[in-house]
Amino acid sequence: MRRLFVAGNWKMNTTLETGRALAGAIAEAISKEMTGVEVALCPPCPYLSVIGETVQGSGVHLGAQNVYFEKPGAFTGEVAVEMLIDVGCRYVILGHSERRHILGESDLNINKKMHAALEGGLKVIFCVGEQLSEREADKTEEVLDTQLDRGLKGLDVEALGNVVIAYEPVWAIGTGVTATPDQAEAAHAYLRNRLDDRYNTHVAESTRILYGGSVKPENAETLLTQPNVDGALVGGASLKVETFLPIIKAAQEVTKT
Ligand code: PGA
Repeated sequence: MRRLFVAGNWKMNTTLETGRALAGAIAEAISKEMTGVEVALCPPCPYLSVIGETVQGSGVHLGAQNVYFEKPGAFTGEVAVEMLIDVGCRYVILGHSERRHILGESDLNINKKMHAALEGGLKVIFCVGEQLSEREADKTEEVLDTQLDRGLKGLDVEALGNVVIAYEPVWAIGTGVTATPDQAEAAHAYLRNRLDDRYNTHVAESTRILYGGSVKPENAETLLTQPNVDGALVGGASLKVETFLPIIKAAQEVTKT
């Protein structure tokens, strides 16, 4: 059985104080009542240490939004895997569409980061997803296939145990437009089949595939009840306790049934 997972991607948002308050409120709620769902917060890099201390002991995990693939050294502006581990990170997000399309990150770069992160002891939330023009040209599966193949290149079955996949259609990120439950389920089922082809049935059945793209309290339940949707990677709605907690609660309900 796959344990549902809800991760908050704060992107380049919050201040130290608002971030601390947000993380504190979520940690308190989680430590009191919501044990069935795995929860992670991914704040901006400068706040990782403080947010890590804030959520310590609550069961909420800490994740980073990026990492560099080289060992510590002369790489101005970059952050090493060791540093993320040092401040208590368990996860790192890789392959996010904003890094692919705004920062120009390539599949090759993502793959190098993937290897470095996993070898260094981080778990990876690996994002894949098509742009609107690609969906309209009926290329969704082709894009997912390529991103999956290139991103996971060289990883064995054991490494896959530390990878969570996030399907994030680019046209649904931060736009308020969510993939329909059917569209999400179709993409997730496709990705799971590809894992079966590439690895084996056990990997396909045990790998969690999250949905991301305008997940909100109003649509969380219908998305999370799809058979192949194992959680959510939440951007905008993770920045407020009153919108993030109901999404976690929706996941909790699914786990219970
Ligand atoms: P959104 O972002 O929930 O604001 O659409 C999701 C993401 O980019 O991970």
